[in-house]
Amino acid sequence: MSSVDKERVEDRLTAGILGQWYAVAKSVEVRRDKPRAVKALGRQLVLWRDRAGRLHCLEDYCPHRGARLSRGEVNHDDISCRYHGVTLDGSGTIVRVPAMPGCALEGRKAVDSYAVIEANDGIFVYFPSKEKPAPPELKLPAEFSDPAWSSFLCMGRWECSYRYVYDNFADPMHACYLHANSFTLAFGAKQDVMQIEKHDDGFTVARLEQKDVNLDWTHVVLDGTQVYCRLDIPYPQAAGPGGPFRIIGYATPVDDKSCMVFFWRFRRLGGIARESWRFLYRATLEARHWHVLEQDREMLTHIPADAHKREMLYQHDVGVARMRRMLSQQVNSQLAAEDSVRMAV
Ligand code: FES
Ligand SMILES: [Fe+2]
Repeated sequence: MSSVDKERVEDRLTAGILGQWYAVAKSVEVRRDKPRAVKALGRQLVLWRDRAGRLHCLEDYCPHRGARLSRGEVNHDDISCRYHGVTLDGSGTIVRVPAMPGCALEGRKAVDSYAVIEANDGIFVYFPSKEKPAPPELKLPAEFSDPAWSSFLCMGRWECSYRYVYDNFADPMHACYLHANSFTLAFGAKQDVMQIEKHDDGFTVARLEQKDVNLDWTHVVLDGTQVYCRLDIPYPQAAGPGGPFRIIGYATPVDDKSCMVFFWRFRRLGGIARESWRFLYRATLEARHWHVLEQDREMLTHIPADAHKREMLYQHDVGVARMRRMLSQQVNSQLAAEDSVRMAV
């Protein structure tokens, strides 16, 4: 591949791979009566709920003169621009021009619409590619639909590329250093060797010598429709009943310098144990988890954007390298498909 091609791959990777589902908001952020603006993959989007509570997502742009639709209002199932009232439905079609009944704009599909899925308190939007214009099935993590798991979703906006968040996930060894003074991640050996296990939908990167002591492995899922990571943090008795604390994490590019991070925090328990953990979580544990996440955020947001040009990786970065390679492969095939479409036209 030429250097120009490498640049294209880098640019696409930085902007965000297309043909994938991304987490874009928490369910509670989109109220029934108010549109919500969201920026992801450099695009301004608007989300709203219809009368049945179903979500719709359009480009946040009024086709009349370009006002932001998110500054307008939900009108039954549709969205109306505040500037002159032009109203669009969830497919991006103009359904009404109230200032001029019978206007020729009515019935015109005028802006892009996006497929939306809501699951486990989170909202996912599909960003189509030329090779995959229609949304593929989104196979959400099994924990989302398994009632044995109880979860909380926490979300943040970080001033760094989402790629650093992926790197961080694929690097379990950082936990016993960066989080050494934390409630849960202070334990275990400071030296190890990392190993990779391949799966159909991605890979696991794990410490060779240590298991169930600290953050000892990460399961990275890159199934061609989404990217997420799964990891377990062993929990001390003081954190209440249940096994390890499981985290499912997604990162979504906002633009080339910032991202949204979504962490679903799970425990597997039922009955009274479930309620007591949920109480404990809200009362004390959540603040501790934010403290740990702040350590990650603080570290990642101060890594220069061009750090990859002078990195000196060593054995522990096998997960980071694997993650980057798989993402680059996806972008390569995406760009090749776009090129072949262009050639055929
Ligand atoms: S710009 Fe939206 S109705 Fe005029
Ligand atoms: Fe961390």
